[in-house]
Amino acid sequence: MKFFVDTADVLEIRELAAAGVLDGVTTNPSHIAKTGRPIRDVIGEICQAVEGSVSAEVTATNFDDMIAEGEQLADIAANVAVKVPSTWDGFRACRTLSQRGRKVNVTLCFSANQALLAAKAGAAYISPFVGRLDDLGLDGIEVIREIRTIYDNDKSIKTEILASSIRTPLHVKLAAMAGADVATVPPAVLRNLARHPLTDKGLEAFLADWKKTGQVILRP
Ligand code: E4P
Repeated sequence: MKFFVDTADVLEIRELAAAGVLDGVTTNPSHIAKTGRPIRDVIGEICQAVEGSVSAEVTATNFDDMIAEGEQLADIAANVAVKVPSTWDGFRACRTLSQRGRKVNVTLCFSANQALLAAKAGAAYISPFVGRLDDLGLDGIEVIREIRTIYDNDKSIKTEILASSIRTPLHVKLAAMAGADVATVPPAVLRNLARHPLTDKGLEAFLADWKKTGQVILRP
């Protein structure tokens, strides 16, 4: 499973990219709003920081304006994926932009049927929102599992499942087990994936014992 980071914080993205853990980035209008900066500047800088896919979301809700916005966002850099919502206008825009060779990420997906429509519209990615489904007492991971089954049943489908609205390391593990192709993870959750108290405790004990030997591994 690939890792995308879900943020528009350019400094954070550069740091994670330097650590070699990033396969891509997803942003949304809320992330861009938080930066207080023009969307073109932010997306442009992110695209320079990472080689992988960078999702930038349209804010129009009708087909014609989605296409116009999508084209301009896609022109920012070759690795931009245009994000459109799981609505009829969004699916139609997905088809048109995909036919023009643009990569499209269909977002705000909350059901397997929406994922099926996105795949039929030629989406490069479908983004089921795991955390927001869980917030309602539903099972977000189960939706990932359903989509995996549906996509696997039709070999012509090339759409990748991008597990979104990931809130915890457990979500990451369960999404990977359910067959997601990608998980887009907030920076804090991504950093937490490496943490385990037994790792810290074990390292501390090994280093204390090593210190007692007075040895150094490197030759002078
Ligand atoms: C995905 O592309 C979305 O930006 C994101 O995962 C939404 O997450 P949230 O539900 O935590 O806001």
